[in-house]
Parts: sequence; structure tokens; C-alpha cells
Amino acid sequence: MTFTVAIDGPAAAGKGTISKAVAAHFGFAHLDTGLLYRAVGAKVLAGEAAIAAAEALDPADLENDDLRTPAVAQAASEVAVIPQVRAALVAFQQNFARREGGAVLDGRDIGTVICPHADAKLFVTASADCRAMRRFEELTAKGMDIAFETVLVDVKERDARDRSRATAPLVPADDAVLLDTSDLTIDDAVAQAIAIIEAARR
Ligand code: DC
Repeated sequence: MTFTVAIDGPAAAGKGTISKAVAAHFGFAHLDTGLLYRAVGAKVLAGEAAIAAAEALDPADLENDDLRTPAVAQAASEVAVIPQVRAALVAFQQNFARREGGAVLDGRDIGTVICPHADAKLFVTASADCRAMRRFEELTAKGMDIAFETVLVDVKERDARDRSRATAPLVPADDAVLLDTSDLTIDDAVAQAIAIIEAARR
């Protein structure tokens, strides 16, 4: 059985948490596609050329705790603008989506470009303030000394770049169900996502 769930949305909207919970609930595999771009971004920060880094990307490169920093997030958003970088990462994502037993992929262009025929599509959003506050709390909990304003500017800058790029911009697929998590607890957001996917399975 294959069943593909596409979960897209802007930075820190809750995609990651929702995707992991949904995958665990249905017993599906989960791919955080942002990690692919973060891994390429990290290689560029280390001096490699973006396209070559994307073409040589190894799944082992995703197992790196250092990919979660704001600097790597910005670098990821910058390399994500390059069409050849995106093209180099398509096959890996599409193969993952087709795996036996079901798959959840979260990112920016899963429902529009990578898996336009996904069985269920969600577009997870929240206000910029809300998303920046969540990211701020996540980073300070890890011991990072950073101001809320800096995180807010970062989130807005990354969204603007992700939304305005020419190739695979961040935009909801026409058939995606919108889920605004601004005023939802994590449990409520996950419950709504599960209900949306259950409806698609029927
Ligand atoms: O989901 P994330 O914050 O880890 O993503 C980091 C960056 O990677 C994001 O700002 C844009 C890019 N990205 C993308 O262009 N397409 C995806 N499917 C996932 C991420």
C-alpha cells in the first residue's frame, strides 16, 4: 500500500510536529524535506558549491544536529532559490513518497511540485508573531542567546524569500486543506490533521 501525505507551510508553523505525530499515528514513514535544503546550506557555509553539494547529497548528511541553527536555515532558504539545487533533490523525495506502507513529507512544495498527486494535502500556517515566538522558545530552550526581534525578522525574511522565488514558491496547492495553528494547542492541531487525513482515506 502506498499513501502519500503532503504537508506544506511557512517556517515554524508546526509542520514538523504535526508531521511526526501524523506519521506515528498512521504508521507512515516521515521525511522532513527542509533538512535536505539545510544540509546543502550547511555545506555551502562550509565552502562547497551549492549545486555540486545538492547533487552529491547523502542521506547520512541529514543526521546532523547542527542543521537546526538560524544561520543554516537562512542558508537553506538561499540555496532553495537555485533551480538546479531543487532539481537535484526531486528524485530522492519522490522515491520516499512512493515507499510501501505510506509516507508523510513536509516542506514548501510537496503538494504543488514534488507530489502533486498526493492522497492528502495540508497547508499549515500561523501568524508570523506566533511562529517567531515558537521558534524563539525552541532556540532559547536549547540554550541559545537570541532576541525575539531577531527571530521575527529571520522568519519574515525567510518567508518572503520562500514565497517570492520563481521555482516552486511556497504557495498552497489548490486542493490542500488549510490548517491555521495560531490559536490551537499542539494536541488540537494534530487531531485536526489526523481528521483531515482520515477523511482523505475514506
Ligand atoms: O522547513 P525548514 O525550515 O527546515 O526549511 C528550511 C528552508 O529550506 C526553507 O526556508 C526553504 C527551504 N525548503 C524548500 O525550499 N522546499 C522544501 N520542500 C523544504 C524546505
